[in-house]
Amino acid sequence: MAIVVEGNEIQSIQPSQDIIDEFGLGVQGTSASIEGIHVHDLGGQAVVPGLVDGHTHLLWSGDRSQEVAWRQEGKTYAEIASMGGGIRSTVQCTRSALDEDLLALGYARLRSALRTGTTHMEAKSGYGLSTESELKLLNVMDRLNTIEHTPSIDPTWMGAHDVPSDTTHEEYVESLISEQLPAVIDQGIARSADVFCEPGWFSVEESEDLLKASKSAGLRLRMHVDEFVDGGGGELACSLGVDTADHAYHTPNEVRMAMKQSGVNTGFLPGTPYAMGDSWPDMEWVVENQLPFTLATDFNPNCQTLSLPFMCSLMVQRCNVHPLNAIEAVTASAAKTTPHPSGLAHGVIAEGAVANFNIVDGPHWEAMCLRPSASPFSGTVLDGNFIAH
Ligand code: NIG
Ligand code: FE
Repeated sequence: MAIVVEGNEIQSIQPSQDIIDEFGLGVQGTSASIEGIHVHDLGGQAVVPGLVDGHTHLLWSGDRSQEVAWRQEGKTYAEIASMGGGIRSTVQCTRSALDEDLLALGYARLRSALRTGTTHMEAKSGYGLSTESELKLLNVMDRLNTIEHTPSIDPTWMGAHDVPSDTTHEEYVESLISEQLPAVIDQGIARSADVFCEPGWFSVEESEDLLKASKSAGLRLRMHVDEFVDGGGGELACSLGVDTADHAYHTPNEVRMAMKQSGVNTGFLPGTPYAMGDSWPDMEWVVENQLPFTLATDFNPNCQTLSLPFMCSLMVQRCNVHPLNAIEAVTASAAKTTPHPSGLAHGVIAEGAVANFNIVDGPHWEAMCLRPSASPFSGTVLDGNFIAH
């Protein structure tokens, strides 16, 4: 088949021979340009939709590599945080980073994500934790969104990622609602709000207040739930009807079913257990019970990968997930929680959708889930532009 693209949109999908006849092209050419029409003969390579990463912490500065030895000694995430590591240490580095440095970091990360097929991603603030620095992070995302040939960004405000060391917990929660949220709304960049709802970070009650205030202010809702323990975040996700509740490793099965009933997506982030040495969720149960789920990278200082094919490989080669389910979770399903700024459909190859798709380096689409290190793609069409990898 041939995919006909005009501007940033897929016009039609037709038998290749029709195109060859219509444009009088030689058969089996490689690429050619005729009267402003560019033809790429993919020689039988498979094509999959542009990948959508529905959960990233794209922008931060610093290096937490020393934490790996602490984890190997048996220290928990909470213990490392109380020793001065964790989110707060990244906050210190990110606050002092210049806008231009964050822009350069973000650009390099976006280019790396594109090489492994990501054409659109959600990105959270949350390593600033003061009104000024959270606005700075969202502003850098907005600037990144104007740069061509990089995946587009769906910006999320995550002031409730942790409590900065210069305020008390109560003061911070209060200021999130009374000061940070209104400033974020005024700035007009964030589309969603997210909260780290986990015992030791933000309680179910605090998360509820914050998310309700965010919803009234016009933001869409996302959550981090049950990452380390079953903390009740899954139930709150249901009652608020959030777009997606992510991590969810310790969410009980009956709450998973309630999330399905409430139309709440579960965002599995297999890079986190991979990086932190935790066990995998029971994905066979998830697939069997037809839970709506996405897979995302959770790119952050502990989990430094932006490769969705790697996430698919973890699911297919470690958790017995069928490649088609894995690919759906990083394309069509992810597009539902993370819409494209053009307003067009994405995560699918269909007439009228954004012209975002990847060319698999081989004839079988399953190959996309079987190459955890190098990119499985020989090229990407991004907003209608052909980019060779
Ligand atoms: O989603 N869990 C909260 N936030 C990130 C990790 C943050 C960090 O450790 O810097 C996550 O895994
Ligand atoms: Fe996260």
